[in-house]
Order: sequence, then structure tokens, then C-alpha cells
Amino acid sequence: MAKKTINDFRQMVEKGEKIVYLTAYDYLTAKMQEKAGVDMILVGDSLGMVSLGYDTTFPVTMDDMVRHCQAVRRGAPNTFIVGDMPYLSYQTSNEQAIANAGRMVKEAGVDCIKLEGGGPMIAERITAIQQSGILVMGHIGLTPQFMGQIGGYRAQGRSANAAMKLVREAKAVEAAGAFSILVEGVPAAVGKAITERAGIPILGIGAGSYTHGQLLIYADMVGMYDNFTPKFVKKYANVGEVLTNAFKEYTEEVRKGQFPNDDEHTYKMSEAEVKEFL
Ligand code: KIV
Ligand code: NA
Repeated sequence: MAKKTINDFRQMVEKGEKIVYLTAYDYLTAKMQEKAGVDMILVGDSLGMVSLGYDTTFPVTMDDMVRHCQAVRRGAPNTFIVGDMPYLSYQTSNEQAIANAGRMVKEAGVDCIKLEGGGPMIAERITAIQQSGILVMGHIGLTPQFMGQIGGYRAQGRSANAAMKLVREAKAVEAAGAFSILVEGVPAAVGKAITERAGIPILGIGAGSYTHGQLLIYADMVGMYDNFTPKFVKKYANVGEVLTNAFKEYTEEVRKGQFPNDDEHTYKMSEAEVKEFL
């Protein structure tokens, strides 16, 4: 299948077809997701927790993001890839934001970048990056780079006032030139209100069923990341358990001398050669 473009996503929204979105951080996972036919892959700065073992997304660097976006691009050459802008790669100035978004495109071949926030400063960055020719996905609601101000990993927009603020932020991000917005961690009614008022594709993670598309962190939905699982995650597999069991079985078999089996798992040599050699 050909790689989808902005036009395909707009058409999908018009036809009411859901956009399927998953995170990936490495070559193998991206390859499987492309094979499965997902529409869009996010190389999220959740990389920090899922692949690098940090407690938050803050330590993730541009070099980390570029390296992992490259790996995902190699695994999914025909899938629309969104590269997440890590903390302090866009906040400081329009120039830095453009330069770093440009690295994602030039060095890793991503199709779009994503950045967090719905305030006036972020709107200015979105416009700057968009005007440099790069597709921008906004990200509002539960935005981990604002964790300190949010006061932890908690749902957003649960009061009428907070919900109205998110609806206004979505409008501001759209007006700034974002091609799409990801809404995270809000009640379904808020996801619906934002989607109904939007003129661009609205993707949701933990934002209910009404958004134009759905995102999950792949390591959550296959049961690999078990440090913390948000309420909105559905587990489609227990890959963590499958892998742990395989590692255990291997450990036991090596210790007992059951692996390798020399009839099955080793290279052959003719009896004559063995005799001569010994
Ligand atoms: O980094 C990420 O994976 C994200 C999603 C959780 C929304 O930004
Ligand atoms: Na992120």
C-alpha cells in the first residue's frame, strides 16, 4: 500500500473512516505495524519511558528522537510517520523549533512532527514550523511535558470550565496551522466537542470513541510496559508474559544442558572430516 498523505487523512475524515494510529520506537515493531496496516505511526517521546527506562519524557533528546525515528522509518517505509518533539526542542524560540523540526525531516524522513500545548507561545511555534513547510500535529489535554503544572498523570477537561478551555485551545492550534490535533486523557464528551468543532483530523488517546482516529502506546496495548497502565488502555496481548516465559525456559534449558541439541541446533561436519581433524 502507498504511504498515506494529508489528503488521504482528510478524505478518511470526510468518509467517516477511523484513522489507526500507534506508537513505535524501533525497526522491528514498525515493520510489524506496517504489515498490520496501521495508518500512522508516532515515534513518541514516550520513548523515554518505554525504551530508555526514564520515569518521564523530560530527559529525551533530539538525538534520541532522530535515531529512533530513523529506525522506525526503516521498518515502515510506506507508513506516515509522526516524530515527537522532545522537551526544550521547540519551546525556546521559533528558530530552534524550525531547526529541530527540520532535523526530524532531513535526518529521519518523518512526514510530520508533533508538539505539546495550546497556549499562545505554542501557537506561534506551530505557525513557524508549518510555514517552513513541515506538517505539524498539535497535542492538547494531558500533555506530559506540562506534568509539573498538571500535577501528575491525570485526566484533563473534567470540569465545564476546563473542557471549554480545551475546546478553545483546539481552535487556537488549528488556527495556528496544525494539520491535525492529538487529544489525550479527556472525557469522551470533551473529545466529541473538540471533534465536532474541528476542521482538521482529531486523533484521540484516552479521549473516547468520537475522535476521527485512535492512538495507543504499543507497549501498553500488547502488555509489555507494566510500570503503569492508564485506564484507557485495552490489552490486546500479553507479549511481556510470552517473552518472560521464553527467557525463563531458555535459562532453564541452558542450565540443564538441554539447549543446544547437537542434532538440531549446530553446524554439520562430515564424519571423515571429524576423524581427520581429531
Ligand atoms: O509520546 C507519546 O507517545 C505521546 C502519546 C502518549 C500521546 O505523545
Ligand atoms: Na509525547
